[in-house]
Amino acid sequence: MRGVSDPRQSVFVKAARGEAVSHTPVWFMRQAGRSLPEYLRLREGVAMLDACQDAELITEITLQPVRRYGVDAAIFFSDIVLPLKAVGVDLDIKPGVGPVVAEPVRTLADVAAIPDLTADHVPFITEAVRSLTAELGGTPLIGFAGAPFTVASYLVEGGPSKDHARTKAMMFGAPDVWDALMRKIAGIASAFLQVQVAAGASAVQLFDSWAGALTPADYATHVMPHSARVLAEVGHLGVPRIHFGVGTANLLDLMGEAGADVVGVDWRTPLSRAIASVGDRAVQGNLDPTLVFAPTEVMTQRAAEILEAGREARGHVFNLGHGVIPATDPDQLARLTEFVQSYRWD
Ligand code: CP3
Repeated sequence: MRGVSDPRQSVFVKAARGEAVSHTPVWFMRQAGRSLPEYLRLREGVAMLDACQDAELITEITLQPVRRYGVDAAIFFSDIVLPLKAVGVDLDIKPGVGPVVAEPVRTLADVAAIPDLTADHVPFITEAVRSLTAELGGTPLIGFAGAPFTVASYLVEGGPSKDHARTKAMMFGAPDVWDALMRKIAGIASAFLQVQVAAGASAVQLFDSWAGALTPADYATHVMPHSARVLAEVGHLGVPRIHFGVGTANLLDLMGEAGADVVGVDWRTPLSRAIASVGDRAVQGNLDPTLVFAPTEVMTQRAAEILEAGREARGHVFNLGHGVIPATDPDQLARLTEFVQSYRWD
């Protein structure tokens, strides 16, 4: 991993910029985490959010999948709710449940009580990104943040939600509170990404995992301007920006227009259709994460179809269509990585 090569010249960054590459780059959302025995060993007795605030653990956990798979990019080990925790919001990540917020946000006063984020809130992020970029050499590090809608859902619901009913009730019924909340989270996400890029991250991904709960019109009116602000503020730093959500077949064009260089596509949308939707932008995706449980030849056949479809895009970064499922066999991901990296078209 150590080396003098420049991550800005890596296949991942080039593909994200739509430049010619020797192979399609590959990394996996949630590549660091519970599918790796070496991760589970490190996390024994350490709470998730404690691990996310320890520069040494962040560095080691981020490097684990890079060592094991030789993927074309590392993703910073953290969580979308970490910046909220860092500014003092009372929340926890409950194993098997997800983020849980002690006092859900419902009023303007609740929003006003959340501090804005500065680099001083997250010294361990700066430290971990610096040590990671030194260790990674030419392998790029992807920084990330949760997008305003997805983070708002956790803050307003108080925990994970299927239908995001309270969140959308605020969006439809209390526009002043909604606007204040979205501005607050957008500012935090933007600052969090800027800290990561300033310390050496070569790309960023904005996770709007739950945006698929919205109609295109509601997304465009109530959400997109805030995500667009985050992407614009990071755009000045010159790193490629990936914008990802789940169930977003009807939103892919808008997610691109929000200011993404690369639009992340979940596995439900055929990649060719996604490419037609996003126009002259790169795409990332989109193998069904359950295909790693299929026989290897079935998995690689489907991966080949995605690699072929990706040729029509301005650029293509191979990934799963959502995060690695915890029960995934790491050896199967190693085979998938090897398959994608050695795949050549005529
Ligand atoms: O991708 C990576 O390898 C980097 C690490 C990463 C984590 N969370 C670590 C994590 C990333 C990029 C995230 C983002 C995140 N967190 C999202 C957006 C991505 C997506 O999956 O849609 C969301 C929605 C969250 C909120 C969250 N945090 C959920 C839903 C959960 C799972 C709860 C569970 O236990 O089933 C978490 C916890 C979490 N984040 C874990 C990890 C490795 C598992 C906790 C553990 O290992 O103890």
